[in-house]
Amino acid sequence: MKYLLNPRVKNIQISGIRQFFNMIQKYENLVALTIGQPDFPTPSLVKEAGKRAITDNITSYTHNAGMPELRQAACQFVKERYGQVYDPLEETIVTTGASEAIDIAFRTILEEGSEVILPAPVYPGYEPIIRLCGATPVFIDVRETGFRLTAEALAAAITEKTRCVVLPYPSNPTGVTLNKEELQKIANVLEEKDIFVLSDEIYSELVYEGAHTSIAQIASMRNKTIVINGLSKSHSMTGWRIGFLFAPAYITKEMLKVHQYNVTCASSISQYAAIEALTAAKDAPRMMRHQYKKRRDYVYHRLTSMGLQVEKPSGAFYLFPYIGTFEQSSFDFSLRLVKEAGLAVVPGSAFSDYGEGYIRLSYAYSMELLMEGCDRLEQFLKEQN
Ligand SMILES: Cc1ncc(COP(=O)(O)O)c(C=O)c1O
Repeated sequence: MKYLLNPRVKNIQISGIRQFFNMIQKYENLVALTIGQPDFPTPSLVKEAGKRAITDNITSYTHNAGMPELRQAACQFVKERYGQVYDPLEETIVTTGASEAIDIAFRTILEEGSEVILPAPVYPGYEPIIRLCGATPVFIDVRETGFRLTAEALAAAITEKTRCVVLPYPSNPTGVTLNKEELQKIANVLEEKDIFVLSDEIYSELVYEGAHTSIAQIASMRNKTIVINGLSKSHSMTGWRIGFLFAPAYITKEMLKVHQYNVTCASSISQYAAIEALTAAKDAPRMMRHQYKKRRDYVYHRLTSMGLQVEKPSGAFYLFPYIGTFEQSSFDFSLRLVKEAGLAVVPGSAFSDYGEGYIRLSYAYSMELLMEGCDRLEQFLKEQN
């Protein structure tokens, strides 16, 4: 019967991050700086609201697009924080994490043969969904431009088949963000073109220099941009599975159908708690951001002192140093790091072929673990010389 299984599904792989994570489970006493998940507990107000939702029987289906109060709170939040203005009833969908938002957005806009442009190295959650749609990912190598997608490179990659450009900033795995001027140049390229932008802004609350800016704030782009956001990273709520889609009504209306037949609605308990996150606990990300910034500065300083070449990240919670000088694949390097130094990181190749030559360290870990991890890396590097 195997031959009857959908070849598109058979051809996709489980993410390189998970593969590596599963493989190193057998090693003991590891310091693991692998996972992109906040180490803070969910704010207590949010946890209390979740408990209340269960006690008060808020345990039924909600509106497919999400509780109206939550959509209202989400729109209010992005308006206050980033100046993004969306209608809670017509232009907002509450999803099961940003992951579902990516899935339903692609399934709504892509057809067989469509091309999707992605700046790479890139988060591995896009390519498999693009391929499941019968579409083709087109990677732009951004290693030579400080991991930033430039307007020139974008213009050169556009073809008749281009349906969408993914802007995943702040970026996982590099931590790089685009500023207003860079976004404006990209908008100039896209202005006259019928191409959607999928702007994945899941790390928008974790920007350390300046304010988060979104291409959707540029007037000419609003009508073609789908914004993804959520509470996983901002409020340390990865397990609650709450994401958001903001897009003009003509797209949202269609995405809502895919969402309805996919999950009906996000969990009512999580939605109820999410209202609290975006109202009473709306400042919770500030405290976490403050801690992440200290950690970023510490690890960045340690890596550069070891002689590693690394872009200083302005957002998210990752560093992506270059290890190509050691003349081994990022996978072999990472495996040796596990076996010989007791330190786990993610091989850059998990972020497309363009991540080869790099490793990703997450600093969503306590300062003690980061110190120990850096010590182990330093020792390992010394032994290479
Ligand atoms: C860039 C990016 N987008 C989306 C997601 C998925 O987020 P969620 O856990 O809300 O599904 C992640 C998770 O690591 C991510 O790094």
